Amino acid sequence: QNNVPNTFTDPDTGIIFNSWGIAKGGSQTQGGFTFGMAIPPDGLTTDANEFIGYLQCSSKDLVNTGWCGVSLGGPMTNSLLLTAWPNKDTVYTSFRYATGYSMPDVYSGDAKLTQISSKINATHFSLTFRCQNCLQWNQGGQTGGQSTSAGFMVLGWVQAFPSPGNPTCPAQITLEQHDNGMGIWGAVLDSNAANPAYTTWAAQATKTVA
Ligand code: HEM
Repeated sequence: QNNVPNTFTDPDTGIIFNSWGIAKGGSQTQGGFTFGMAIPPDGLTTDANEFIGYLQCSSKDLVNTGWCGVSLGGPMTNSLLLTAWPNKDTVYTSFRYATGYSMPDVYSGDAKLTQISSKINATHFSLTFRCQNCLQWNQGGQTGGQSTSAGFMVLGWVQAFPSPGNPTCPAQITLEQHDNGMGIWGAVLDSNAANPAYTTWAAQATKTVA
C-alpha cells in the first residue's frame, strides 16, 4: 500500500482523487483494491467533515461478489466503518461501528452517503460517492475523527469474497469475517486532493440507495 498518494482521475466522472491501493497481483489481496479521496478546496487548511470517495474492490466471480470496506479511523474498532457490496446492478453501502472484532453494529450517527456513479463486472465493483459527516463520528457518545488539515490520515481497508446475507437491506446484512486481505495504512494527502471543482463534483451525488 502506498502512503504518498497517486493522483487518479475517475474515467466515468472526471473527478480527481488522491488514491492509495494494492495492485492486482499483489500478495495482500486477490484482485487489487483502491481507495480514493477528494476533499473540499479548503480541506488542507480547515478540517473537512466530508469527502468524495472512490472504492474499487474485487469479486471472485459473479456469485461470490463479496464486499469491501474502509475504516475511516484505521483500526476496525472504534472507527466509522463503511461497507460496500454489489447486488445485481446496484452497489449498496452500510455505515457500521465495532467495539470488538465481531460483526459491527449499524452506525447510529448522522453520516450520509450519496452515490455519484457505480460499476459492476465479473471481477470488480466500484463506487464513487459523497460522504457527508464522515470524518467526525459519534457512536452513542464514543467520538473520533480525522483532521484533513493535518494532511495525513490513518485509514484501514478490508475485502471479502463471500457476499453479505440480506444484501438488499443494508441495515440487516450479515457478514462472515473478511477473507481477502485487510490492513491499516498512513494516507498522505497532497494538493491534488483539494480541487476547486469539489462543489461541482459533490452536486453530482444525487442517488440514494436505501
Ligand atoms: C481486522 C473480524 C467485519 C475492518 C479484523 C480482525 C478480526 C476481524 C478478527 C483482526 C485479524 C487479525 O489481526 O489477524 C471481523 C468480523 C467481522 C468483521 C468477524 C464481521 C463478521 C469488518 C468490517 C470492516 C472491518 C465490516 C470494515 C468495513 C477491519 C480492518 C481490520 C480488521 C480494517 C484491520 C485493522 C485491525 O486489525 O483493526 N477483523 N471483522 N471488519 N477488520 Fe474486521
